[in-house]
This record gives sequence, structure tokens and C-alpha cells, in this order.
Amino acid sequence: MYHGKIHFSSVLIPCLCLCLCLSCSGIPYKQLTVGVPKEIFQNERRVALSPAGVQALIKQGFNVIVESGAGEPSKFPDEQYAQAGATIKEVKDVLASDVVVKVRAPTFNPALGVHEVEMMKEAATLISFIYPAQYPELMDMLSQKKATVLAMDQVPRVTIAQGFDALSSMANIAGYKAVVLAANSFGRFFTGQITAAGKVPPAKVLIIGGGVAGLAAAGSARAMGAIVRGFDTRAAALEQFKSLGAEPLEVNIKESGEGQGGYAKEMSKEFLEAEMKLFAKQCQDVDIVISTALIPGKRAPILITKPMVESMKDGSVVVDLAAEAGGNIETTVPGELSVHKGVTHIGYTDLPSRLPTQSSTLYSNNITKLLRAISPDKDNFYFDVKDTFDYGTMDHVVRGSIVMQNGKNLFPAPQPNNLPTAAPPKSKTVQELEAQKASQISPFKATLTTASMYTGGYLIYATRHNSLISTHIRVNNTTFTKCIFTIVYYISIYLH
Ligand SMILES: NC(=O)c1ccc[n+]([C@@H]2O[C@H](COP(=O)([O-])OP(=O)(O)OC[C@H]3O[C@@H](n4cnc5c(N)ncnc54)[C@H](O)[C@@H]3O)[C@@H](O)[C@H]2O)c1
Repeated sequence: MYHGKIHFSSVLIPCLCLCLCLSCSGIPYKQLTVGVPKEIFQNERRVALSPAGVQALIKQGFNVIVESGAGEPSKFPDEQYAQAGATIKEVKDVLASDVVVKVRAPTFNPALGVHEVEMMKEAATLISFIYPAQYPELMDMLSQKKATVLAMDQVPRVTIAQGFDALSSMANIAGYKAVVLAANSFGRFFTGQITAAGKVPPAKVLIIGGGVAGLAAAGSARAMGAIVRGFDTRAAALEQFKSLGAEPLEVNIKESGEGQGGYAKEMSKEFLEAEMKLFAKQCQDVDIVISTALIPGKRAPILITKPMVESMKDGSVVVDLAAEAGGNIETTVPGELSVHKGVTHIGYTDLPSRLPTQSSTLYSNNITKLLRAISPDKDNFYFDVKDTFDYGTMDHVVRGSIVMQNGKNLFPAPQPNNLPTAAPPKSKTVQELEAQKASQISPFKATLTTASMYTGGYLIYATRHNSLISTHIRVNNTTFTKCIFTIVYYISIYLH
């Protein structure tokens, strides 16, 4: 069993710290300082703690210091942090805190000519996105500093941890922003309209991958009135697309994409071929493709090839949310906005950072909730790191998130007990889905159809008999009759 370890700034305090650790009671929050540095990664506009987050940590008992200007890009000025109770200091003081909270993993600071880890004090605690498998050198540097590291990217995706799941918070924002950017680059409305100037067809959006980002994109595109289709290798994701009003697409191959812990697994060559055949057909029809298909720890599969992109209508838009992992779309330029044969490609890899106030607010909530949950003691900062734990418990969350303790590399975490084996929902055949779709009509459409038919029928009847009985309006005008026919005609066209 390991114990959470905290740090003091004076010579005497480390001795006290050691005693407290040995007595397993942790360190009083009031003796600990949490530092919030300004993010220095290129174009990063998020900040790890919002002023509300500062307030929450101060309420928990911590002292908080924030680097001057850290919140500016997220529209949180120094004054707001000061009002929330933080002290504003320079970078060196902030990084020398007992607990350092960051968004991006520590990196080399070119302005100061020194790596951020080198500015951290020995045996500090770091909470940040880390991606330990991808950055072993960073893990080595942190180990030499005897750091304790909580990786926000390693928080287990289990129900109890939803409040600290920064991957989900950020993916949700990326999905929304993908739709906003697509709409901005697209030359038409998303929603269909019947106006005096003409009928406008709704945009058709294909979403590949129904994880958090894909589902957020589906919800946003539906809310804007587009026709949305969704594809995923996991049957559960297809059900979720459906519940958002998107049309789930399927291939006629029975193969479940459910991997361990709800994540996707790599699909067979046959499945990928069938899926790409489906996309090739869809590309000729849809206006916008938003792809989010990822396999943890692997290069993203290429699902939309160059010829498929070239078959899309001029003015179409593709957004590749998998760009950072290599991309799902062959013609994407990661990190860039580009155009290939009339199709706009959005390959940005920093979408959450492009909505900085929102993402900083949610990330800050994730961090403060995580700190409260892993150290529930009222007065002392203290947490247990166990190597044996049950799936879905706080022990699972703590062990999963802590990738290093006092310099000891703990990544990867051992498997929890009682790991649920994914029981994939029975997937429906294409024929079954089509039959279901044909039999389904949304309550709104059903009501509108019935209402318009009854209203239209009644008005036509009443007009013909020169009497609108319920309203006692006398109508003698054939123009009015024509009007009623026109309204009913357009409503029926729109609905079908
Ligand atoms: N229980 C929780 O609290 C919780 C919270 C968040 C996420 N989750 C689960 O974690 C899992 C991962 O979510 P995520 O948003 O990080 O996903 P992700 O970003 O890792 O992947 C995105 C989606 O791409 C899909 N995909 C992979 N290969 C594909 C292919 N060839 N074709 C089409 N789609 C493909 C995946 O099935 C996944 O739905 C999901 O099952 C999600 O429901 C659970």
C-alpha cells in the first residue's frame, strides 16, 4: 500500500511531512500550495483552474497561487483569481508549488531555456494530461524529481469517475466545435427551410465513430436541423446515435467492435472493407463528414480515402477529429485547415482549446472534483494507492490515475478485479433496421402530420361550406381556399 505524499517549502516541514505520511494521516491542506502555471504549449489557450476552481480548492483548505496572465486566453483575468482568493505570482514560484496543476504535460520553456519539470520542486505532485506511454522521457524526468503524478488521461472511464473524466469533457467540446466549424465552412444552412424565396434542403451529415465526441457532434448537428447519419463498430454506439435522432448505418457483417473497458477494438480487414464501401456510397450523398474513429494506443484507421473525398460535392466539408492520431481521412493535413478538390478539410488537433473558456471551466471542475474524491479527508491531503481493487470503485480510480508515486513509475495500472466482459447488445441486421426506420415516425412529425391533415381538412371543408364554425368566421373567398391547399401541400412535402 502506498500513501499520498505532500510537500512543504521550509526545511522543517519535510520532516513533519514524513512523520505525517508515516502516521498515514496525510498533510493538512492549509500547509499545501497548489500552483497554476500559464500553459506554454503552442496555441494552448486553456488553463487548469478557473477562478471558481480556485475557490473550491481554497474551500478545501489549500493555498492557491496562479501565474500572472495564466487565465487571460480563457477570459479569466488575474483580478478574478485574486478575488477568488489566489495569490498571483511569477512562473518560477508557481512551478515550485507542492501541487502543480496543468492542462498540457510539462514541456521545455523556450523563453526561460529550461524544462518545466526542472522548475518543479523535488517530490511535488503533478496533475495534468501526461500520456505516459507516449512520453517515457518525460516520465524519467519526473521520476528523477521523485514526483507523484496523476494523469488526467488515465482516469478510468467508469461511472463513479464521470465527474473527473477530462477526456470526456474535452471530447464533448471537440464534437460541438467540429459542427460549429463545419457549419462555418459550409455554404448552406444546416436546417431545411421553406421560404418565400425558395425551398432549402437540409444538410446531410455523416458521423463516423459514436464515442463522446461523435455523439456530441450528432446532437449538435441535429439541433441545427441537419439530417444526421452515424456509424460505429459498437452496437451500443448505434443505439446512442438513434436516441439522438440520428440514423444509424450498418454493414452486413456481424462483428462486434467492443474491446476492453468499453473501448473499440481493431476490426477485421473484411469489416473495414465493408465499412469503407458504405462510406464510399455515403460520400456521394452527404455534405459533411465528421470522423472520430479511434482505437486506443493505435494509429487511427483510414476510413475515407482520397477518391472518396474527390467524389464529394464541391463545397462539402470534412472534419477529422482523429487527426492527432494520424487521421481517418486520407487527405487531412493534421493541425491545418486545407482544401482538396473543393472539399474543405478541418484537421485541427486543438479543438477544445478553441473554446477555451468552456474547456477550462470543465477541466477545472474535473480537477477539483478529482482532488476532493481521492482525498475525502476534511483536514488532510491523503490518498491510498492499492494494487488490488475492484472495477468501478474509487480504489480503481485512484490506482488508474496515479501513474507515478514518489518517483516510482506505476504505469500501467494492474487490471481491476471483476472486470466486466462487454456483453455487446444484439446488433440488428440492415433489413431489421430499415424495417424499424420505416415504422418509426418522430412524435413531432406524427403530431404535425396529423394536426396539419385535420386542420387542413377541416379548413377546406369549412371554407367550401362558407363557414368556419368554431371561430364563427364567415369566409367567402376562393383565395383563402387556395391558401389552405398551398399550406397543406408544403407541410406534406416537408414531412415526407
Ligand atoms: N462509463 C463512463 O463513464 C464512460 C465515460 C466516457 C466514455 N465511456 C466509454 O468509453 C468508450 C470510448 O469513448 P471515447 O469517446 O473515448 O471513444 P474514442 O474516442 O476512443 O473512439 C471514438 C469512437 O470510434 C469508434 N470506432 C473505432 N474504430 C472504428 C471504425 N473502424 N469505424 C467506426 N467507428 C470506429 C469507437 O467505437 C468509438 O465509439 C466508449 O465506449 C464510451 O461509451 C464511458
